[in-house]
Amino acid sequence: MRVTKTLTIIKPDDWHLHLRDGAMLEGVIGHSSRHFARAIIMPNLVPPVVTTSDAAAYRDRILAAKPKADFFKPLMTLYLTEQSDPNDIASGFENGLVSAVKLYPAGATTNSASGVKDFDKVMPVLQKMAEIGMPLCVHGEVTDASIDIFDREAVFIERVLDPLRKRVPDLRIIMEHVTTKNGVDYVTSSDKNLAATITTHHLIINRNAILAGGIRPHYYCLPVAKREEHRLALRAAATSGDKRFFIGTDSAPHIDDSKEHSCGCAGIYTSINTMSCLAHVFEQENALDKLEAFTSLNGPAYYNMPHNDDTITLIRHDEPITFPDKIDTGAGPVTVFDPMFPLHWEVQ
Ligand code: DOR
Ligand code: ZN
Repeated sequence: MRVTKTLTIIKPDDWHLHLRDGAMLEGVIGHSSRHFARAIIMPNLVPPVVTTSDAAAYRDRILAAKPKADFFKPLMTLYLTEQSDPNDIASGFENGLVSAVKLYPAGATTNSASGVKDFDKVMPVLQKMAEIGMPLCVHGEVTDASIDIFDREAVFIERVLDPLRKRVPDLRIIMEHVTTKNGVDYVTSSDKNLAATITTHHLIINRNAILAGGIRPHYYCLPVAKREEHRLALRAAATSGDKRFFIGTDSAPHIDDSKEHSCGCAGIYTSINTMSCLAHVFEQENALDKLEAFTSLNGPAYYNMPHNDDTITLIRHDEPITFPDKIDTGAGPVTVFDPMFPLHWEVQ
């Protein structure tokens, strides 16, 4: 294969990742640890990771499952419930075990039943986090059945996020997997304590991928992909170099039986080909010089962590490179995200 170009960047981190547990964890961890030095690990297991001792045990299972040769540091998060203990959370952050807390509005997505319904009940936790500088990762969708699913992010900003930020202005928030122009505009209009992650797939697909010409469950995730104008706003934000935007793949493996179902699960698996997809997107936008900011610099800066010392090199081949359609995990086959265009960039 002829190589036409190479690009060396500081090793990326993934600021939003689902690794699951058991056989699935073992089947997927190597795809993240190969290209990413660190990842913010989502706590929506069954039962969820709520306490610092849950997080310590989960971290140990992740480290045991990781390929021995890879350096990979899981950055643990705790699942915020109305019973969460502010002192337990603060001690986890202060001793370096836990990096953030995750807010799921109850019922918003996969395994979110124990999430928050009444924000008054979690105020002591949020106040404590603001005091100690601990970040809150937010799944930004309302769960109100009367709100159209395509509007749930925009309505969340108005009804929940903006009031919450006014109530606890010192709280450092990450709007996870932002999917709308409304979300991008909200983040860029705020000068402090707000950033957003953007997934690989939301830079590539709009809602037609899920619905036009047949239902394609492997493009279904939450928040659901929106109209083209929103995808374009996300691409502009990601490739702008703006420090408030960084990669969070939200790579979320489900076995094919759970996706190809009359009520299929939400989640897209991108860990294996994210860097190839991102290099493609940034090249299309004439912004390869901004890729490192998005994957490797802006995230650590917002989380007040140093960037990685290592680098990775991406190689652009003339001929398309290939990825498996599916990966086999001990839990069952998982379909890999198909960007629907040939990929040419490969991590060396
Ligand atoms: O598509 C999604 N899948 N969105 C989420 O918020 C959760 C995730 C999962 O855990 O499968
Ligand atoms: Zn997620």
